[in-house]
Amino acid sequence: MNIVILAAGIGKRMHSVRPKVLHALANRSLLSHVIATARALEPSQLIVVVGYGAQAIRRAVSAPDIQFALQTEQQGTGHAVKHALPFIDPALPTLILYGDVPLTRVSTLHRLVDAAANGCYGVLTVISDDPHGYGRVVRDCAGRIIRIIEQKDADPWQQEIREINTGIVISPSGRLDSWLNSLTNNNAQHEFYLTDMVEHAIKDGVEIVSVQPDDVWEALGVNSKRQLADLERIYQRNVALRLLDAGVTLTDPSRIDVRGTLECGVEVSIDINCVFEGHVVLGDHVSIEPNCLIREATIAAGTRVDAFTHIDGAYVGENVVLGPYARLRPGTVLSSNVHVGNFVEVKNAVLGYGAKANHLSYIGDADVGARVNIGAGTITCNYDGINKHRTIIGDDVFVGSDTQLVAPVVVGSGATLAAGTTVWCDVPAGALVLNEKTQVTKPGYERPTKKKT
Ligand code: UD1
Ligand code: CA
Repeated sequence: MNIVILAAGIGKRMHSVRPKVLHALANRSLLSHVIATARALEPSQLIVVVGYGAQAIRRAVSAPDIQFALQTEQQGTGHAVKHALPFIDPALPTLILYGDVPLTRVSTLHRLVDAAANGCYGVLTVISDDPHGYGRVVRDCAGRIIRIIEQKDADPWQQEIREINTGIVISPSGRLDSWLNSLTNNNAQHEFYLTDMVEHAIKDGVEIVSVQPDDVWEALGVNSKRQLADLERIYQRNVALRLLDAGVTLTDPSRIDVRGTLECGVEVSIDINCVFEGHVVLGDHVSIEPNCLIREATIAAGTRVDAFTHIDGAYVGENVVLGPYARLRPGTVLSSNVHVGNFVEVKNAVLGYGAKANHLSYIGDADVGARVNIGAGTITCNYDGINKHRTIIGDDVFVGSDTQLVAPVVVGSGATLAAGTTVWCDVPAGALVLNEKTQVTKPGYERPTKKKT
């Protein structure tokens, strides 16, 4: 089949310069959701009609399997489909999807395609308690669809109709050209409505069939920021329910956001207000405390992520304890049994088995051996103002509090760095390193007092 996705409209009601179909739902554009749905149906031709913001849209979704049709003036949904005609295979039916209707299930579209086999014209409709703004499906007393009337053209009686047009239709392609050419813009919006095609198909004796999705949200479109926010909540609710059904414990399914894919092992628990972005894997028995952001990360079995932890582009091994308030940046690899505590930032660094950095440290561009203890306030000075350098710390090193390691520097295994040391030369294994400093003590010191003005 051919699939045409309409994405040329401005989306005035969004009050944004960004083309409507590029607004994000779960961190991906509305259009990319629709394209993913279309691909699951394995079309022979996939055509996206672009117009307003065409360049930005092409840049965002270009792929070898997509052809773009340019509708320079947006004169309505019917006018848009006309621009796709040169790209379609007339021997196969054409399914029309809308770039601003992102949540339709693939299985629902399969049902529509099947219902319209044998040359029927298929319309996806749904009964809605809140039909305002949508086209209404008008049926005769025998229940046959006779027309679709837009909200703005509907009389009060028609506005009472609760069966709405999702916009999604499948049509035999042979007569599309003549039906589209017969459309007029004699309506409230002076547009060539795709919805008027139903009447032309009926005139030509083509049977109209309709299919309803299992859930109303499959048909919801985004015309405003309110609707975008509503759909985001629906999407997130669906993800949360799938996680619960798979055995994940969610303290509150309405307070989790998954903007990508989240894979969970057994006995995983996630407390409130956690956000997952990109591809995230949580191993068996992982528990995540409230208010964590986890992006592009794998967290192995038995690890505990305490509140307010931020993880981005990291691999976290088994039985690690993270946070509260830990920050892992891209390139971080934590081996099993590591502890990274509050206000510790780790970037592009590997921490060996059982290493601990429990408080207030920066570990960047470093290789830290097994069982190393990093005291509070330790900093790897990885940047000389021009280049980044690595710090290498062997196994079983003890790093005292408030130590600076000026990279590039290598600390041999088993070395001890005294509190407050600035390490700028390599340290041999087993050595004690300290900087000589003098402590000056003046007894009976009187602090200055505030002058009265
Ligand atoms: C449309 C339907 C309406 C249906 C609703 C479902 C028509 C006339 N009306 O109304 O019956 O209930 O969708 O969501 O079809 N577009 C173009 N070129 C244009 C105009 C629009 O590509 O010239 C694209 C838009 O980018 C959008 C889609 O078509 O992705 C729908 O357009 P929109 O203006 O949002 O139509 P609705 O008023 O929602
Ligand atoms: Ca719309």
